[in-house]
Amino acid sequence: MVGSVPIFQGLSEKTVKAIASQGKELSYSAGDPIVNEGTMGVGFYLLLDGKAEVRKTGKVLASLGKGQFFGEMSLIDELPRSADVVAVAPTRCWALTSWAFSGLVKAHPEISLVMLKELVKRLRAAQSSPTS
Ligand code: CMP
Repeated sequence: MVGSVPIFQGLSEKTVKAIASQGKELSYSAGDPIVNEGTMGVGFYLLLDGKAEVRKTGKVLASLGKGQFFGEMSLIDELPRSADVVAVAPTRCWALTSWAFSGLVKAHPEISLVMLKELVKRLRAAQSSPTS
């Protein structure tokens, strides 16, 4: 499951297996908070199944589905979580600690390119629906 997500595309099966074993699977019910705005982040999440919403002051910034990631911002800039992420359906995530996340990106820098591409996509989406 972890191996089929876009950010791990291009890595060998052996590498993906080693990466997958570093994280753990977490399950959420609809309505459960996964990440809380303003708290310090310790996890990076891949959504394996289900659906989650990124919300800030009650406004939905994005809907995330299978194969998408979240929680990277706080780990990259070491600032508090920028938004809430809430499960809106029964949802399964694969989560990695911040230290495992940085080790992973250092060992496989190609992952950061895929992640950058997705971040640019999110930035463009935010530009086309400004909040003010
Ligand atoms: P982080 O700030 O650690 O925690 C909240 C997460 O929501 C954030 O990382 C991103 O992964 C995600 N996020 C924040 N803003 C957006 C947005 N505009 N579009 C998609 N995802 C977002």
